[in-house]
Amino acid sequence: MPATSLDQVVSLCKRRGFIFPGSDIYGGLANTWDYGPLGVELKNKVKKHWWTTFVRKRIDMVGLDSAILMNRRVWEASGHVGSFNDPLVDCKDCNERFRGDKLLEEKLGVEAAAILTLDQVQPMLTSEKIACPNCGSCTWSPAKHFNLMFKTKQGVIEGEGDDIYMRPETAQGIFVNFKNVLNTMRPRLPFGIGQIGKAFRNEITPGNFTFRTREFEQMEIEYFVDPKEKKTLFDAWQQTVWDWYTGLGIAKERLRVREHEQDELSHYSSKTIDIEYQFPWGWGELFGLADRGNYDLSQHEQFSGEDLKYTDPDEPTNKFLPDVIEPSFGCDRTVLTFLLEAYTEEELPNGDVRTVMKFDKRIAPITIAVLPLSKKENLIAKAKEVYQLLLDETNLTVDFDVTGSIGKRYRRQDEIGTPLCITVDFGTLGEDKEQGEADTVTIRDRDSLEQKRVKISELREAIAQY
Ligand code: GLY
Repeated sequence: MPATSLDQVVSLCKRRGFIFPGSDIYGGLANTWDYGPLGVELKNKVKKHWWTTFVRKRIDMVGLDSAILMNRRVWEASGHVGSFNDPLVDCKDCNERFRGDKLLEEKLGVEAAAILTLDQVQPMLTSEKIACPNCGSCTWSPAKHFNLMFKTKQGVIEGEGDDIYMRPETAQGIFVNFKNVLNTMRPRLPFGIGQIGKAFRNEITPGNFTFRTREFEQMEIEYFVDPKEKKTLFDAWQQTVWDWYTGLGIAKERLRVREHEQDELSHYSSKTIDIEYQFPWGWGELFGLADRGNYDLSQHEQFSGEDLKYTDPDEPTNKFLPDVIEPSFGCDRTVLTFLLEAYTEEELPNGDVRTVMKFDKRIAPITIAVLPLSKKENLIAKAKEVYQLLLDETNLTVDFDVTGSIGKRYRRQDEIGTPLCITVDFGTLGEDKEQGEADTVTIRDRDSLEQKRVKISELREAIAQY
């Protein structure tokens, strides 16, 4: 069973060091979150797994890490200056501002609310008697467009800096480097460029923990194709991504594919499907797969004056702008989904209930914890030897934990989702045959709770068995 409420995971994240409220000691800053010691390990592992799967292990992919700050012309060309808007309404009584479509989601459903036109929002709020979440009144202004890009100033002189934007998607860094990649890497179609990085959107209603935040991380691919092959490759990406999520432990029954309605499509897309997860508050987007056609490359060609065409190496007179399929993953949402899905409360044979995070072993923040049975000096020294051996001879993430009773430490390791615990006891030291033979340790499996006695010299092989 995954988490049934978001609060279960929010509380565990704070208690165990996964995710803390941002700027906490100053009373916080709304909707900002900091990944703690375990959260950063989890997130880094998810990103590494993504990069290995989609960039390193694919002959048709290369990587990129482009700048967050870009020439403002990029955003004029991409259409974000003109079209990247949300429909906002003001409560006429308390002046709070809200996204009109979001206020209507509960009454109309997510799909129907997303396709409302600007003119329909205020009459619909009135006819559906939607009250202001802040003051309860029902007097709404007509909806207005509000651009979602964050503006900042470049330059050091007060009042004289140039207005520039924080990127609202990593995708444009890829498009503006398309020619550089073509010239340096000589790829053949179809090929893709992958990038992981931060993006920023001035969302009016962020929320649901790390699901919707103004600063967030994306894992994006722009996959360049011959238009003739687009349909097959689009479907292949949908399947590949579905398999990636389910392969890392997301239950199929909590995933669904939803195609965007025509009116819901982004300004650059002619077809988009989302993979959605059933979050405790309802279905929400985890991943989007968009057919961007050659919209971006042709806009950048026009605005920059550069020739961005691809030359078919087998037919050099055949020059064209490739179409683009965009698999775009929300990194923070993906991490949140792994947290929700891993969360398990289970009854033990003795009647106790334990909380255990059943992360896939490849993304668990800590893979192995080494636990000396007590704080006795020679026991700690021996446990440190085992810890060092694992650090030197494996590339696993290993934790060393001496704080608290062994029972409490097992509970902590369960709650942070450590797949294996290795306990060093007096048997290991050759001081207590009942605990075990000299130079053996106990391996405890997180999920089955089985414990096995293993020789230290055979530890690596034993771990590999898991
Ligand atoms: N690049 C697609 C998105 O940011 O939604």
